[in-house]
Amino acid sequence: MIATNTLVRLLASVALVTTVAACGGSDKPAETTDTTTIETAPAEVPAAETPAATEAAAPAEATVSYASLTGDAAKGERVFAQCKACHVVEAGVNRVGPSLAAVVGRTAGSIEGFKYSPANKNSGLVWTEEQLFTYLEAPQKTIPGTYMAFAGLKNPQDRADVIAFLKTKA
Ligand code: HEC
Repeated sequence: MIATNTLVRLLASVALVTTVAACGGSDKPAETTDTTTIETAPAEVPAAETPAATEAAAPAEATVSYASLTGDAAKGERVFAQCKACHVVEAGVNRVGPSLAAVVGRTAGSIEGFKYSPANKNSGLVWTEEQLFTYLEAPQKTIPGTYMAFAGLKNPQDRADVIAFLKTKA
């Protein structure tokens, strides 16, 4: 709708300029009108557009609860490609990060022989689905000082999907 509005306005401006140019006869007034009209139109548009766009996007992102989502394990396997640089889902195989076999429901920092950060080791967290959903959005926020150098999965559906995939590796 906004895009159409903008287009209509721009077309109107162009039509106006063309009309003025056609009627004015002289080059000078036409050029002056041209600059003024074109500057006015785009200046108005972002003002109308910006508040609507931010209001719509921000709360929607913040209020998505894990319970409201249905994870898809097949899609989650594709999301897991982002974790593979550091994790595998085979039991007992630690890479840069610990094995994520049976991670759902286990206590944070509990893989024997993996050198966790004190922050992760002592977090006292249990990797419930809800906890993973929160953690994976921004790991450094949930566990400040974690060794996991991963910015996080901003898309809630991606998190739900990767959790569904990890549940199949119990
Ligand atoms: C750049 C490497 C890297 C990437 C990419 C990465 N991780 Fe990690 N992850 C780590 C490291 C290292 C740790 C150990 C953190 C610590 O000890 O502070 C860890 C820890 C974890 C833990 C806690 C495990 C435990 O036993 O407490 C979970 C859960 C986890 N990662 C899930 C994921 C998922 C899911 C992804 C992909 C969306 C991912 N990680 C991507 C490196 C990574």
